[in-house]
Amino acid sequence: MNLKPETFTKIDEVITHYPVKRSATLPLLHLIQEDAGYISDAAIEWVATKLELQPINVYEVVTFYPMFRRQPIGRRHIKVCRTLSCALTGGYKVCERFEKEFDTHRGEISPDGEVTIEFVECLASCGTGPVVMIDDDLHEKVDEAKVKQLADQIRAEAKQRK
Ligand code: FES
Repeated sequence: MNLKPETFTKIDEVITHYPVKRSATLPLLHLIQEDAGYISDAAIEWVATKLELQPINVYEVVTFYPMFRRQPIGRRHIKVCRTLSCALTGGYKVCERFEKEFDTHRGEISPDGEVTIEFVECLASCGTGPVVMIDDDLHEKVDEAKVKQLADQIRAEAKQRK
């Protein structure tokens, strides 16, 4: 499975925290999704082997919890809070604005492969909404101008990579 070396290190370390290996299923899936963006069939089989389970046991966990994605996402992950405080301060508009910037819809990969935009629940910064998380970075009081600025930044970083 294709993960960063540090993810493999974390996985091995996390397993040691549990007296019964299978109890590490959820943390392992979180680590894999954090790195790969989603849980593939190969990941399910890999976790099953690692924890000495049957793939069906892992598959059931993945499909039970809605936070696990079964499809790949764009290179950058834009999460817009839709919980009450952020919704009241314009979270839905912010999300629509991001969709326009990248010509995409929530949950899909933008045509350039660069982003996936999703609504998420409270990001624990309710006093400074609307709040958006891009990969691991939190952005507060995001208005239309800030969406534009963030989108330009993402595009500039994408160009630099090429
Ligand atoms: S409601 Fe958006 S961060 Fe809490």
